[in-house]
Amino acid sequence: MDELLNTPAIAHGLRKVETRIRRLAGSSALPGINAGADRIITAGGKRLRPALTLATSLAFGKTPDRRVITAAACVELIHAGSLVHDDLMDHAMQRRGARTLNAELGEGKALVIGDFILARAGLAAITAVSRPVAEVLAATVVELAEGQFLETADQFNRERTVESALRSITGKTAALFRASCLVAAICAHASDEDRARMALYGERFGLIFQILDDLLDLTAPTERLGKPAGNDLRQGVYTLPVLRAMAKDPSVLHDDVDATLAALRETTIVGDTLEHCRGLASDALSALPVIHDRDIAAIMYGLPTAYIDHVERQTLTRAS
Ligand code: FPP
Ligand code: MG
Repeated sequence: MDELLNTPAIAHGLRKVETRIRRLAGSSALPGINAGADRIITAGGKRLRPALTLATSLAFGKTPDRRVITAAACVELIHAGSLVHDDLMDHAMQRRGARTLNAELGEGKALVIGDFILARAGLAAITAVSRPVAEVLAATVVELAEGQFLETADQFNRERTVESALRSITGKTAALFRASCLVAAICAHASDEDRARMALYGERFGLIFQILDDLLDLTAPTERLGKPAGNDLRQGVYTLPVLRAMAKDPSVLHDDVDATLAALRETTIVGDTLEHCRGLASDALSALPVIHDRDIAAIMYGLPTAYIDHVERQTLTRAS
């Protein structure tokens, strides 16, 4: 992942994206909205989704121009806006080691600041990128809402199916990774086939990202997560790694969250989940179109496995 973020052309583009994000997040006539939006924007985050947008542009031989930079900023703003809503729904007090917007400003203000961020991204996409990109982003927000709805509808449902969980994370997370790649492919006027290929790559990587986030929620210590461990179970969200462990042994799910966490740690959940993700990584790589730039090709081909290895090291560090 560091390779993606630190590649000079991408790092250079990300600095411009950062400026654009801050300008858009600070563009309200109301200082209170700007302060709240700035808080979530500057709370950290790796800017992985905009980096994918920039990498896709470069993969199609295009140095990211103003439209691609704005599209990348819009993607990150949608991510940030959705996190504000997510924290609100979870009544979360902490994210990325800092107090959430709802904890700091109250639920009402957090809600409308989340709305502002999302709407601002939509406005920037239609006015400063293009109608096709704005359409993709709007459709992605629809998918995010649907994915999140499915998760909410299944809370504390011990009968939740793997298929339902997969559908949920495809909407709530993978759709935005898919869009991160697709918007750059559209800006680059890539062929329909190449757009579909890049979109599928992004979606598969997004699934990997969410499944590993769900795994870390079960296995990583609170100080590393920047939020309480076991959060998903506490919220009644039985994630894909848990459901797959339950399919092997339903008795791992206890009423007490700590007992479930302890039971899960006795299973092969880490190895099984990593293996599942390596299968998805293989799908991602098969989807990639031809990339002429060797450095960018190496990054795109290496990214899914590098991310899985990175998480594997985190889980191993914890076990030792
Ligand atoms: C974080 O996942 C949340 C998301 C990826 C999506 C949240 C989507 C919504 C709240 C739907 C409404 C959004 C819009 C755009 C209208 P997580 O809860 O698994 O991760 P976490 O552990 O970081 O909270
Ligand atoms: Mg959450």
